[in-house]
Amino acid sequence: MRSLATGAGVERREGREKVTGTARYAAEFPFPGRLFARPVPAAVARGQVMGVDVSAALGTPGVVSVLTHENAPRLAEPDDATLALLQNPRVPHRGWFVALVVADSAEAARAGAAAVQVDCPAESYDVTLSAGHPDAYVPEEANGGYPAVRERGDVQGAFASAAVRVEAGYRVPPLHNHPMEPHAGTTRWDGEHLTVHTSSQGTTTVRDVLAELFGLARERITVVAEHVGGGFGSKGTPRPDVVLAVMAALRHPGRPVTVVLPRRFMPSCVGHRAPTLHRLRLGADADGRLTSLEHEVTTHTSRVKEFVEQAAVPARVMYAAPHSRTAHRVVPLDVPSPSWMRAPGEAPGMYALESAMDELAVELGMDPVELRIRNEPETEPDSGRPFSSRHLVECLREGARRFGWERRDPRPRSHPEGPLLTGTGVAAATYPVLVLPSAAAARALPDGSFVVEVNATDIGTGARTVLAQIAADALDVPLEAVRVRLGSSDLPSAPMAGGSSGTASWGRPVHEACLRLADRLTGFPGPVPEHGLAEHADTFGTAGADSPYARHAFGAHFAEVAVDTVTGEVRVRRLLGVYAAGRILNARTARSQFVGGMTMGLGMALTEGSTMDAAFGDFAESDLASYHVPAHADVPDVQAHWVEEDDPHLNPMGSKGIGEIGIVGTAAAVGNAVHHATGVRLRELPLTPDRVL
Ligand code: MOS
Repeated sequence: MRSLATGAGVERREGREKVTGTARYAAEFPFPGRLFARPVPAAVARGQVMGVDVSAALGTPGVVSVLTHENAPRLAEPDDATLALLQNPRVPHRGWFVALVVADSAEAARAGAAAVQVDCPAESYDVTLSAGHPDAYVPEEANGGYPAVRERGDVQGAFASAAVRVEAGYRVPPLHNHPMEPHAGTTRWDGEHLTVHTSSQGTTTVRDVLAELFGLARERITVVAEHVGGGFGSKGTPRPDVVLAVMAALRHPGRPVTVVLPRRFMPSCVGHRAPTLHRLRLGADADGRLTSLEHEVTTHTSRVKEFVEQAAVPARVMYAAPHSRTAHRVVPLDVPSPSWMRAPGEAPGMYALESAMDELAVELGMDPVELRIRNEPETEPDSGRPFSSRHLVECLREGARRFGWERRDPRPRSHPEGPLLTGTGVAAATYPVLVLPSAAAARALPDGSFVVEVNATDIGTGARTVLAQIAADALDVPLEAVRVRLGSSDLPSAPMAGGSSGTASWGRPVHEACLRLADRLTGFPGPVPEHGLAEHADTFGTAGADSPYARHAFGAHFAEVAVDTVTGEVRVRRLLGVYAAGRILNARTARSQFVGGMTMGLGMALTEGSTMDAAFGDFAESDLASYHVPAHADVPDVQAHWVEEDDPHLNPMGSKGIGEIGIVGTAAAVGNAVHHATGVRLRELPLTPDRVL
């Protein structure tokens, strides 16, 4: 047995292509005769299109056609109502697309789009979320199929009689995914076959949805996403750009069509993290043991579809409390449809819960690391199931040691430095282990090399590299002998890169196909034939089966901040995370995943926030000049570490997901550090100078 390929910090395979600019992204296929299409967004928050005057647009040089609800191809009714584009005159929110201009160049499409005259009288609308909104209701489920409400014991009675109580409200604003590469694609219909290059987290789903919408057999569609410049959930499902590109390609057979969503369109059409209003009630005995835990979340959804950010769900996992209530309420408003954004549910939910835990520690006069350790549950509090593995306590202890937590004076405002107040904070993190069905194939070639095929997507995570490591170990061959083909719907079907589930979902059938192939080669007489030898595996019947175990990753986040008492600016000096996420399969790419998540959490804490402007009925911050993501100077010292977990109840690789947990506890750790620095408890993100002063 050679040394294992998994675990090593192997460099990502497409790194050179990316840094030399030879990696091609979805809009970078300059096929001859290519057309460009640009959507036209509605300028009212609610209304009905009475007419679209396209004459000026059609008179614009280079414009070849304009599609509206009156002449666009008819679509089958989609499961995802945000894809029912140009099918009827209703405008359910500002930014909803009401026309598509197709032209010979991107510039002509843009000029044509500006010339489209839309007659759409504004109707009255409501975009303002409040906890007391009269239309708030309890949905059947929150996202992920979780029950909207869970209740154990007598939470009110236990809270009323608790020795120590914390009751607080928190608010997380709408947040936008804003991947570096916008939603984009290049589509070609040759009359027989549709080829789509798109920026997506999963092209099997894109193919299936397009087949359904346009009534085409799946075999006639190939959807490719070889390189993807991030998605953070906004590319987990097909978005309007790809549907509009296919419409234009069908209208102009033989001519390729490129659609690139302008960044300013993205907040209203690719989903956003819905704002969440949190009500936390924690009751504890004098020793800091929680007796009651209540977390109620109110969020918004659009008129187009129900989407309920499952932000009270992590409170069902984290702490032992005999009496508990976790609940979601949702208010349908005339807003763009919310959707998935990195650690949906956990990121906003744990901000609130972990801030409240910090408040409880202050009330108790107890160290916040110790408070969390004291409330460690024996089994998953909500279900009673045993954990497959849970090393939160180890993460907290290891993090405290590495961070130098023992040097901390717990009193607020005890670490001034001239005009700066410095402080430190801690928060815990959790993320569920998710697995989706996938297929994969492995092929041995006569030259002694191997090809693994699976329609995984590498959204910048290093999926190609890690799957090669998994395959090399299963085949017991050197890593260099394995090539991985991914990112095309013609390959064995696979789920999207999302829910931190990719490696576990794709890795299992890759592992199994490779084991079978190695087995077959062992007994194979003579040389491998010209066309190779292939084995196939899938988890269609097994992935997603209920486990008797509660399976989650855990982590601990530590932050040090400096708050400028003159300007109100908060700077993060250090972030340190320690994770327990099963076996880490690639130390290098895993570290990047953790650090990336923490950086996004830093943005959530300090700079990222969107405002629903009631006057226009849309987000005010729609570009990167107004929606501030962290720059390098904002991220001075970020460390990610992990404790190795040996968990036999996961998959053959022993891995949990790592793509999202890095964001989960970061904002709370920063907020708690700001409280420690200043003595002021801020309960609304982001912690911008106007709030801090
Ligand atoms: Mo992620 S929000 O699960 O793509």
